[in-house]
Amino acid sequence: MATGRLAGTVAVITGASSGIGEATAHALAREGSTVVLLARRSDRLAAVVDAIESDGGQARSHQVDVTDASAVTEVMRAVDEEFGRIDILVNNAGYLANGPALEADLGDWQRMVDVNVTGVLNTTHAALSLVTQAVGHTRGVADIVTVSSLAGRRVPTLESNVYSATKHAVTAFSEAIRRELVAKHVRVGLVEPGIVRSEMTTGGEKYAPDATQGDPLVAEDIADAILYIVTRPEHVAVGEIVIRPSEQER
Ligand SMILES: NC(=O)c1ccc[n+]([C@@H]2O[C@H](COP(=O)([O-])OP(=O)(O)OC[C@H]3O[C@@H](n4cnc5c(N)ncnc54)[C@H](OP(=O)(O)O)[C@@H]3O)[C@@H](O)[C@H]2O)c1
Repeated sequence: MATGRLAGTVAVITGASSGIGEATAHALAREGSTVVLLARRSDRLAAVVDAIESDGGQARSHQVDVTDASAVTEVMRAVDEEFGRIDILVNNAGYLANGPALEADLGDWQRMVDVNVTGVLNTTHAALSLVTQAVGHTRGVADIVTVSSLAGRRVPTLESNVYSATKHAVTAFSEAIRRELVAKHVRVGLVEPGIVRSEMTTGGEKYAPDATQGDPLVAEDIADAILYIVTRPEHVAVGEIVIRPSEQER
């Protein structure tokens, strides 16, 4: 029998095969949530599930591309069959390809829109009824947390043109559903990180963190913020958390 502040809850996390999503899966599972991990790399998902289970947690995974609406719907159907609800949805999957507009590959722009915007819409749309069904089951509230970015509040660099546009879109969508879902006791929050060390920032050829902005955050710093949001007492709804490395000025 799971113990912890999230015991009895079911959490679905997109982009859980690495980085912030993986760290969030560990953080929520440690507090007793059964975590359902979504991403495309099934080998990486299996390794995260194994690690969580070795640590005494409960985890499942589904290989899915969040840009594929019908595949996402199928996954949510499977979650419905197994659990009948989602207490916590973390929209975290994302893609970044920064660069000057004059040199941009249109395919990169489209991919950022597909993953960062359409992926969030596909997942939220398919999960919404399961999220509302969770209210009153284990807790009197349910949570939707979306990982946006500092780039969803401003345009932090000249090269973050389309990435910033996608994260602004997600910020607006999140605020709209927050207002709509208040009446249903669903808390909707955003986490807006500055630079985080992850495959997105260190593994990509198209983007390297700016060394003048100090040491980056680590994925666990953001997982910690997500954990804070979903473990607040039921009368507290955290709308947004902005987190920068201490030396990041922009
Ligand atoms: N790193 C930063 O500095 C930073 C700053 C602010 C915000 N963020 C945001 O944080 C989130 C997580 O990024 P991260 O830094 O942890 O990078 P990451 O390690 O590259 O994680 C990205 C995750 O998204 C998944 N993903 C990408 N495309 C997908 C698709 N089409 N379908 C399903 N899953 C997909 C990846 O899994 P698969 O490849 O296995 O599908 C991976 O698990 C993103 O939304 C990002 O925009 C990052």
